[in-house]
Amino acid sequence: MKILMINGTLRQGSSYHVGKLVIERIAENEDQIIELFLPKDMPEFCRGCAACITESEKRCPDYLMYMKRVTRMIDEADLLVFTSPVHVLHVTGAMKALLDHYGYRFMVHRPEERMFTKQAVCITTGARGGMKSTLKDMKGSLLFWGVGRIYSYGPAVAATCWEGVSMPVKEKILQDVDKLSLKLTRETDQVVPGIKTRLLFYIMRRMHQKGMNPVDQAYWKEKGWLDKERPWKKKAEG
Ligand SMILES: Cc1cc2nc3c(=O)[nH]c(=O)nc-3n(C[C@H](O)[C@H](O)[C@H](O)COP(=O)(O)O)c2cc1C
Repeated sequence: MKILMINGTLRQGSSYHVGKLVIERIAENEDQIIELFLPKDMPEFCRGCAACITESEKRCPDYLMYMKRVTRMIDEADLLVFTSPVHVLHVTGAMKALLDHYGYRFMVHRPEERMFTKQAVCITTGARGGMKSTLKDMKGSLLFWGVGRIYSYGPAVAATCWEGVSMPVKEKILQDVDKLSLKLTRETDQVVPGIKTRLLFYIMRRMHQKGMNPVDQAYWKEKGWLDKERPWKKKAEG
């Protein structure tokens, strides 16, 4: 099993530690675990040129230096773990900058088919508030990417670092992480998208049938999704 952890900060703080607890519960010795840290692994802001949307993701000015590598890792992973602390009620700027670069992968444009059979976990920690909106920042992107199964967890830790988190809070986190981990499966070929992802797919399909952006419509046509093919079909029936 391949696990990719993308951390929205360079600090190995509370959010990172909670993410690691999840990974420890699902990973086995033979698994490959890769950890990326932002902004080190993708330090650029989206310039808003929209070349990824209107032409090709390979036209992004950050494609060769950063996005090609990160995207390959995302596509190859069976389980994605995104972590970000709450920074003024939302994900860190670094995490937002990465997510902005994947606008072209929204179902409204050209979703990658491997997403539909992946699992993802979004983790945040905040001192007191803003965890819901921070998780929504990550979950919203992953849903629009078409990720099959998305789980999330965002405890209030009342601390600025993992060492400062009290024992009772850590114990509660351990219990919650145990429960969350039970939802994950190592049988990665059994993962199929939930109802929300499918519903969104069919809404977007209808839109692409009418046609908006020629690049997107050609992509959906080539995949066969405007006909009988579905991005989750091969795995579900295989
Ligand atoms: C710039 C900044 C903004 C923050 N904004 C919030 C916030 O809006 N709500 C909150 O509860 N905590 C906020 N915090 C506190 C952190 O979210 C909290 O300490 C978190 O657990 C840190 O996670 P980390 O150890 O993974 O970096 C903020 C911290 C920083 C540095």
